[in-house]
Amino acid sequence: MQSSYLAHGKVILIGEHSVVYGYNALSMPIQSLNIKTTVSLNQTPEYYMDTDRYHGDFFEAPAEYNGLKYILKHFLNLIANPPYLKIKYTGLIPIERGLGSSATVSLGTTKALNDFFQLNLSEEEIMNITNFAETINHGKASGLDSATVNSDDLVFFNKNTGIEYLKQKLNAYLLIMDTGDLGNTKEAVQLVKALIASSTLAKAAIERLGLLTDNVKNAWLKNDAATVGKLMTQAQACLKTLQVSTPKIDQLTKLAINTGAYGAKLSGGGLGGIVIALCPDQKTAQKIAQNAGILISNYWIEEV
Ligand code: MEV
Repeated sequence: MQSSYLAHGKVILIGEHSVVYGYNALSMPIQSLNIKTTVSLNQTPEYYMDTDRYHGDFFEAPAEYNGLKYILKHFLNLIANPPYLKIKYTGLIPIERGLGSSATVSLGTTKALNDFFQLNLSEEEIMNITNFAETINHGKASGLDSATVNSDDLVFFNKNTGIEYLKQKLNAYLLIMDTGDLGNTKEAVQLVKALIASSTLAKAAIERLGLLTDNVKNAWLKNDAATVGKLMTQAQACLKTLQVSTPKIDQLTKLAINTGAYGAKLSGGGLGGIVIALCPDQKTAQKIAQNAGILISNYWIEEV
């Protein structure tokens, strides 16, 4: 007896950080990056976690897995005499890069356990459990990451008013480049929180990010990739004001634009992680990654 769920990763096109303060954000599922969660009975009397980085007792896993521990505990409390389980994670989404790895495994664990125990929880209950785990992981999670890893369409998200799914395609390609540096989302969210409490410049940057996001949506719906790119670059300037960019991110965004991208920015919490560049064609995307010296395993080109 076993249950599996395959959940994919995501990138935030625009609106990270400002989304935490009630502004809109636009994000995109990345199907090619995914992790499969498999729940099965364990013959030995323990709850066992099997990931590429940790194999052992689920509840003794390092703190980075606290969100997953919450999810398993939640399900075990719903079941009378629950059996011992093995939960295995296969596939790879680089961690702490803004690619949604934590939301992916949180959603996968929730859905696989729901299926394993045949609980038929509603989509809303599943998202509540996933979001709670994400709040444990990130401190003050907006719900954007969970919503995007649970969607096959573009997500226009507002934590207060809800989600609009967009099917409109843009005549462009998205290059995703991994800087190789870890960016801790919890740390980034706390840093921004402290900054906007003390700086009017930072507060203004958050407001501007909200405005830029709405403009990106309008341009996207008109299939105006050049304008979307320009607005993304403006968002990068705001994220720099919020101190979540790094010299490497700055250098990659500049290189991308100089090599022909419509625009470029960090994506996710920042402080490391990925840079995304909106490109007119695949050839330009390839050229940017090559000029940047990024290994083929560390960049992805997606149709948008
Ligand atoms: C992290 O991927 C995105 C942030 O906006 C945090 C959040 O929305 O919870 C930085």
